[in-house]
Parts: sequence; C-alpha cells; structure tokens
Amino acid sequence: MSINLGQVRNDTPACKDLIHFNNAGAALQPRDVTDAVLRHLLLEQRIGGYEAAEHNATLSDDFCHCFGRLLNCAPREVAFAESCTRAWTQLLLSVPFEAGDRIITGQSEYASNYLSLLHLAKHKGVKIEVIPNNDAGVICLKTLENKLDNNVRLIALTHIASQSGVIQPAAELGRLARKHHILYLLDACQSAGQMHLDVNELGCDMLTGTGRKYLRGPRGTGFMYVRHSILDYLQPQSIDLQSASWLSRDHYLLRDDARRFEVWEHSVAGKIGLAVAADYALRLGLAEIESTVQTLAATLRDAISQLPGLTVHEHGDKLSGIVTFSSKRHSARDIQNQLRKHRINTSVIRCQNTQLDFPDRQLGDVNRASVHYYNTEAEIVAFCAALSSF
Ligand SMILES: Cc1ncc(COP(=O)(O)O)c(C=O)c1O
Repeated sequence: MSINLGQVRNDTPACKDLIHFNNAGAALQPRDVTDAVLRHLLLEQRIGGYEAAEHNATLSDDFCHCFGRLLNCAPREVAFAESCTRAWTQLLLSVPFEAGDRIITGQSEYASNYLSLLHLAKHKGVKIEVIPNNDAGVICLKTLENKLDNNVRLIALTHIASQSGVIQPAAELGRLARKHHILYLLDACQSAGQMHLDVNELGCDMLTGTGRKYLRGPRGTGFMYVRHSILDYLQPQSIDLQSASWLSRDHYLLRDDARRFEVWEHSVAGKIGLAVAADYALRLGLAEIESTVQTLAATLRDAISQLPGLTVHEHGDKLSGIVTFSSKRHSARDIQNQLRKHRINTSVIRCQNTQLDFPDRQLGDVNRASVHYYNTEAEIVAFCAALSSF
C-alpha cells in the first residue's frame, strides 16, 4: 500500500509553512511524537519526574519491543541511548582490544566515529585501515576481504554517509564478516527510518542509530542493537545502577541484555517520543517509506542536474534520500542562506568533516538536500525555482 501523502502531511504541522529538505539533519516530527513528549513533560510538571516515570512503567519494555520489530531482533537486544554517537562509542570502547589489533573501516565513515577510532589508535595501539570506495562511492569489498586476517578485531561501516546518498553494501559486508568471524558494527544513523533494516539480513553484530533523523523522533535520543550472543564478549566501559545490580559490598551483576549499555538517567519523554516515532514508521511500512523516499530523491537529482552550473555528486543505482550538489557560482553556505530566505531548509557538508572522502573526490563544501516521504514533487519544483532565482 502506498503512503497517503495528504495524511502524513496533515500529521506534520510544519509542512504547511516550509519546505523541509533537511531530513538527514533532523526530520520534522509527526504531531503524535511531539504530543507524546509534551504529555510526559506535563505529567512530570504535575506529579514529579520519578512519579511520572513510574506512571509509564512499561515504557522501556515497549521501547525495546518496538525497536525489535523495526530491526527484526529480540527486545533484549535493544537499548536506548542519547545519540547515535554515544551508542556507537559505548560499543566501540567495550570491544576488548589489544595492542596490534586492526580495525577496518570505510572511506565514508562518519566524522565522529573516525575521531573515536583515531583516539583509540592513539591510546590503545590499535591500527585503523580505511578501505577506499570505488568510482560509484561504494566500499570495495574485494580490497576489504584481502585485508581480513586474525588481527582484525572489528569492521565498522557507515550504512549511508552523512555526506553522500550512496547506500553501502552493508549486507554483503555482513556476509564477509561472518565468513571470517569478525565483529561487525554498523552505523545505521541515516538508514534507520528511511529503509527496511533487518539485522539478520545485514549480518551485523551491533547497530546504532539516532532518533531525530529519518525516524522523525525527538532530539537527544538514539538506540543500539547488540546481538545477544556477543553480549558477554563486550566489556562495558562504565556501568551504573541501570546496567548492573550491586549484590553485596564487593560484588555486582551486569544486566543480561543490551540495556547493560544504558545509563540510569535519561530523557524519559524523549524515549517515549522515539518509541512513538518508530511505531509511526512501522505503521506506514518501511518498504513503502524506502521506495517513496528513493523515488523522490531520484526526481530531485534529475531536476538539479538539469539546472545550469549545478553538479549532483552521487551516481549509481543504490541511492538514498540524501542528495548532494555544488554550484559553480555560489558557495555552499550562500546557497543554504538563499534557500532559507525562500523557507527551504537544507544543510551544508563541510569538507573539513569528511577528511577521508571529499579531498579524494576533489570536493570542497557541498550542499545537501535530503527528502522524506512527506515531501512532494511540487516542493521539488519550488526548490529548483528558488535555486534558479539567484
Ligand atoms: C552517518 C551518521 N552517523 C552518526 C551520526 C551522529 O548521530 P548523533 O548526532 O545522533 O550522534 C550522524 C549525524 O549526522 C550521521 O550522519
């Protein structure tokens, strides 16, 4: 069944006032999400924070069940986090690395992830190896497989980069990771909520995501998946009363599920809002969302490439809702500012934050327009008219 555009736009109050092509930054929330967050905040105001949390006592279970359905995993393999980066770093640091271990990653790895890898290499003596992308912007799996040996402790891949709409072959990489028995951490920050994700098809051991992007949840929320069979192999870097019980003066017991990576204090309202957002996506259907987003993005790429002086940067047949482009005449920042005057939201990707990628592709700062299923072809026409007007 296709998505009812009138309904989803009606559910999204801001659609009336602006053209939001910054879904890869933070998507617009459906009214249900904002209402659920506000309802909980008002309850906290009325009866107190602990008491409000008690009132919503089934929340954590509901959250894990909902993400279990979204990722096709068991609820005990899901945990809440306050961002994708927090989830990703928590998991990275829990891998028992030894000096000399190697970590394989890709050219499109997210900036903050790569910074954590650099930090780890500096302090733990692990070695990072970056596998280049081919001309289509896809990680070269042949080169990657040739690098795999007993010293590779982890493969870390970003499914869809912040700076490019190319969808990386995450499942093919998962098959290689399994064949060689290597731990595989997938950053699904941009893919969660815009495409069907199944951790078994993807073959990843750990996956992280954020709430505010294609899932349309509140800011300050994220989640992680941890395959149950690797739970005890990982060593959480910090624990508290959420992740463990204090049994006696010198003894504690870690939780027996992925929530051993959670911290006790968190935004309860945010967690509620994220569960509502995930449920909204599940009700629309991730396959429908995926095809709607990809069709709109293809239309947008086509339309931008026909405008004089503009170049679209992604090609290939596996592309997501992220469209990046540059102008011969204007800086990326100018274009973003001009578009904002037309009430059109986009973002700028800075070359500085893509040190593995843009210099190699001879790119400077670029513009990013990212569409969601609630955007329309009429908005694409208006976007192109605005782009042509300055
Ligand atoms: C691919 C990717 N990974 C991770 C992140 C970080 O997400 P968060 O800000 O929730 O930590 C982003 C944010 O832009 C991203 O695009």
